Amino acid sequence: MDKNSVYRTNSFYWDTQGNDFLRAIVLPFYGAFVSDEKYRLFGDVSGKKLLEIGCGNGQSLQYHGERQASELWGVDLSEKQLEKAAQHLKARGLSAKLIRSPMEEECGIPADYFDFVYSIYAIGWTTDLEGTFRRIAAYLKKDGVFIFSWSHPIHKCVVAENNRLVFNKSYFDESWYSVPLDEGELTLSDRKLSTYVNALAKAGFVIEQMIEESDVELMQSRDDNSDLAQRARMLPVTFVVKARKL
Ligand SMILES: C[S@@+](CC[C@H](N)C(=O)[O-])C[C@H]1O[C@@H](n2cnc3c(N)ncnc32)[C@H](O)[C@@H]1O
Repeated sequence: MDKNSVYRTNSFYWDTQGNDFLRAIVLPFYGAFVSDEKYRLFGDVSGKKLLEIGCGNGQSLQYHGERQASELWGVDLSEKQLEKAAQHLKARGLSAKLIRSPMEEECGIPADYFDFVYSIYAIGWTTDLEGTFRRIAAYLKKDGVFIFSWSHPIHKCVVAENNRLVFNKSYFDESWYSVPLDEGELTLSDRKLSTYVNALAKAGFVIEQMIEESDVELMQSRDDNSDLAQRARMLPVTFVVKARKL
């Protein structure tokens, strides 16, 4: 895997397609069927400094801005996503320090500074999971909290066939692959849960909570019987981790 080629392909996708096809995955939602309104992983963020990794169009930063966070920072690979984020926040009387960079690289974010670093469906794009977690640990104050969500790896292994869910790829396969999406293309790798857990431990985090459940009440309240909702009743489609820097 050539990380510069991954940056090029993925930033082109996000610059040109944005979240139009993948849809925004923004707080309070960690994924389609997991909401912070139920789990309250952040608690009270008033007066706290927060950094979002892969901040996209800025809607999750807005969520914290409206809850009186004292500082909002966001880093993202895509210039266009950051432009949208800046406009989105400005229109709501909020501001954030927005940095264009791959999350994997040094980009001038201060060390030992943040109360929370978080990421909603962006961490899995990293080409260097251990290095990214080490950087995130460095950005946090001691006892600071790191919260992230991503596609559950089991969800990525299973396809629907004749009303059954069947495995169509190995859970253990972490090789990089390309996905044609709409008129674009994305490059990614599906990592095992243990890869995330072990990388967190190596970077000096302790896991406080992990969520795999889909919120059935949420599906019922939306009357959602989509293929994704049916699948999410049987297996986790999203996982969320709350970890603390030791
Ligand atoms: C699914 S979006 C999630 C963003 C946000 N939660 C939202 O819904 O707008 C993923 C974001 O990660 C960014 N991204 C992808 N690879 C990245 C990388 N290596 N470093 C930083 N950001 C990256 C993309 O540009 C995109 O804005």
